[in-house]
Amino acid sequence: MEINGKTKTCGLIGNPVEHTLSPMIHNTLAGMFGHNLVYVPFPVETGRVAEAVAGAAALGILGLNVTVPYKSEVIPCLREVDSLAASIGAVNTLVSVTGGYKGYNTDMEGLYRAMTAEGIRLSGEEMILLGAGGASRAVAYLCAVKGAKRVYLLNRTLDKAQKVAEEVNRSVGREVILPMALSEFDSLPEQKFLAIQGTSVGLFPNVDRAVIEDEAFYRRIHTGFDLIYTPWETTFMKLVRKNGGQAYNGLKMLLYQGIIAYELWNGVEVSEKEAQIVYGKLKEAVS
Ligand code: ATR
Repeated sequence: MEINGKTKTCGLIGNPVEHTLSPMIHNTLAGMFGHNLVYVPFPVETGRVAEAVAGAAALGILGLNVTVPYKSEVIPCLREVDSLAASIGAVNTLVSVTGGYKGYNTDMEGLYRAMTAEGIRLSGEEMILLGAGGASRAVAYLCAVKGAKRVYLLNRTLDKAQKVAEEVNRSVGREVILPMALSEFDSLPEQKFLAIQGTSVGLFPNVDRAVIEDEAFYRRIHTGFDLIYTPWETTFMKLVRKNGGQAYNGLKMLLYQGIIAYELWNGVEVSEKEAQIVYGKLKEAVS
């Protein structure tokens, strides 16, 4: 693509941003659609996110992704916030509107689309969610909003699991999230679950660890979805597969959060065929 006077700009604000795969996603899509658009990383210093958002609006930047540590801090800088993003309290995509930006959470819509693409449903499911940090808190909202029947929320620090459960249950008006300490997994009902791994345990370079390593736990899982994608096959995934379950990593979540952002910015629909081309490039980059 030739950059000229009509080129539109999108980008990523966060700190750090050097290792992001988002430029690969968006610049590949722009090339495929023939859009005159570039996507670039913008490192933003601590305390300057409001200036960054105001500056982006002043420059007519079409859209931004937001990453760590600004996903919550950016919210007061926005004109509007989508309802799912508002209840989660985290935004990863800004779409230009009159006078500023509207915030969305395409991380969670992306996870949902990734799971749907693999034939995994949330509605009516009995689930286990591992972790109660920022990522798992958002997943807990997603599961509740998409109609999961029950979600056992297991965390090392029980207090945090209880706090997330209270918040989500209050927000959706039913007792869907049930908090438990990790060490109590033995008292889970004797049945098979869909499990989502949302802790940071197992992430490169600590690739030999899983948040629960007892195989008895994995015999209860029919499908395991890890939000991590480096390494390609986490110890959690290995243990799920060893015990007869299906396992998936988080790369498709990354793919679809980007695709949904691209669709919001450009008013297009990315087909599955196009998504697979981008996925191929991402896979090559991480493996
Ligand atoms: P993120 O925003 O990626 O979710 P986070 O908010 O720091 O990151 O949350 C990290 C999650 O991984 C938490 O659930 C954390 O458990 P605690 O709430 O008990 O801290 C979990 N975690 C990190 N290291 C862990 C470990 N060694 N064993 C068990 N859980 C761990």
